[in-house]
Amino acid sequence: MTYAKNCLEGKVILITGGMGAIGKVVVGELLAHSARVVVNDLIPAPEAQELAQAARWPAERFLYLRADVTRRSECQALVNRAVAHFHRLDIALCHAGMAQSCPILNYSEQDWDRILDLNLKSAFMVAQASAQAMIQQGIKGKIIFTSSWVQDVPWPDITPYNVSKSGMKMLMRGMARELAARGIRVNSIAPGIVAVGMAKRQWDTEPDYRNRAQKAIPLGYMQPPESVADAFLFLCSEASDYITGTTLLVDGGCSLYPMD
Ligand SMILES: NC(=O)c1ccc[n+]([C@@H]2O[C@H](COP(=O)([O-])OP(=O)(O)OC[C@H]3O[C@@H](n4cnc5c(N)ncnc54)[C@H](O)[C@@H]3O)[C@@H](O)[C@H]2O)c1
Repeated sequence: MTYAKNCLEGKVILITGGMGAIGKVVVGELLAHSARVVVNDLIPAPEAQELAQAARWPAERFLYLRADVTRRSECQALVNRAVAHFHRLDIALCHAGMAQSCPILNYSEQDWDRILDLNLKSAFMVAQASAQAMIQQGIKGKIIFTSSWVQDVPWPDITPYNVSKSGMKMLMRGMARELAARGIRVNSIAPGIVAVGMAKRQWDTEPDYRNRAQKAIPLGYMQPPESVADAFLFLCSEASDYITGTTLLVDGGCSLYPMD
């Protein structure tokens, strides 16, 4: 990405689920552009430190905080600790998410709750706690949700996931509307079928998924995670300061009407 290496200097950015397949690439991109980054995930801290060292993330601009963002008290503590460590919070990335493949006729109530709790409710709780911290500090910050192209497409066998991302779209628009007067910008990034993480796991293990997915990408190849990280860089940078209430589709055309 051709952005100045210091374009995020001074910004403190929190990302949930930041040690996942896409998250790690996003974190690397933000750090490479001089941000200070608080990374949340479920893995133990020593494991996160090892990954950070292997990736050569600068220790003085990186903080790992283990927290389960499906728990409200942990969301609040996460934001409090991020602010206590770096003394401010400019941008919150509500990125943690999961998918589980199962026909809707067999989807259990428990699995429905697990997907909605993580993908939608935790995003609300982290976004709300982050916005409160920004307002308290007088920071005209940004909140960015990680949605998906399926927020508007009934992709088979992951209906609760589609519902969660669809709900996230209205959460994003509602927060953008209500927080605009405070100067807080709220947007979503909607990736397509990425070559790492949850889509790749399905691609590798579910032949039906793979057959469908192979025909669903107009650009003709799985999405590089770097393209998702570039979209985050844009929405975190000053170049997007006048954008709020928008979904940035970065999906290789998946959301276009399929022609075969
Ligand atoms: N991979 C894709 O093709 C794709 C496409 C569109 C959108 N997305 C979205 O991108 C995001 C990341 O997906 P990924 O493919 O990198 O998945 P991933 O499974 O590699 O990463 C998800 C991360 O979230 C963490 N996490 C799970 N539960 C958590 C909790 N309760 N608290 C804190 N962290 C938790 C996991 O430990 C994991 O590190 C998700 O929101 C997903 O919906 C992915």
